Amino acid sequence: MKHGSRSGSPRHAVSLAHRVAGSVLREGDLAVDATAGNGHDTVFLARAVGAAGKVFAIDLQSAAIEATRARLDAEGLSGRVVLRRGGHERLGTLLNEVDPGRVTVVMLNLGYLPGGDKTRITRPATTLSGLNEALRLLAPGGVLTVVCYPGHPGGGEEAREVRAWASALDAEPFRTFEDGATGRSKTAPFLVAVKKNPDS
Ligand SMILES: C[S@@+](CC[C@H](N)C(=O)[O-])C[C@H]1O[C@@H](n2cnc3c(N)ncnc32)[C@H](O)[C@@H]1O
Repeated sequence: MKHGSRSGSPRHAVSLAHRVAGSVLREGDLAVDATAGNGHDTVFLARAVGAAGKVFAIDLQSAAIEATRARLDAEGLSGRVVLRRGGHERLGTLLNEVDPGRVTVVMLNLGYLPGGDKTRITRPATTLSGLNEALRLLAPGGVLTVVCYPGHPGGGEEAREVRAWASALDAEPFRTFEDGATGRSKTAPFLVAVKKNPDS
């Protein structure tokens, strides 16, 4: 796994995830937001895939689904997005109309719903299952982004497990990347990204 050299902040990690995802997304693509939350990433994906594309946005909590729906309505993007309530550990079942190997980007933004119940966090076991499900959906040349938050209770363990999962995966057809190790505090959010070989 390669390491960059930037310091971390929530905005930095999320905007880096958007840059990585945006570099591979094209008009008409399929994308998945596997932690819809307040809908910021879903809106980003819906804009990137354009009117011909489609985004599936998943969250465990109905509060998140409703927040995402309201944001999409306000942006006039609802027609491009399918919202589903459920756990990303069952991503393949939740998105049973999506064939494996067809999705250009899957995004996970871990932790709790900002402004919501801070005890309802993503958990290592379900997160790792969700990541493995996401890999099955990924198209050749596609990218999986995971923003990890080691700063809240339980977040450190989850971040370590995601990092270990990505390191173990770093072999054909996948390459893994992690942002900014140098100068970053131990509790700063960071991005882990996985790219699937375009020729695979
Ligand atoms: C940091 S928020 C996501 C932020 C969001 N991407 C945005 O742009 O606003 C994390 C979300 O993960 C959701 N979550 C927790 N466990 C989950 C699971 N197993 N499957 C799907 N979503 C889950 C939480 O309900 C919460 O809304």
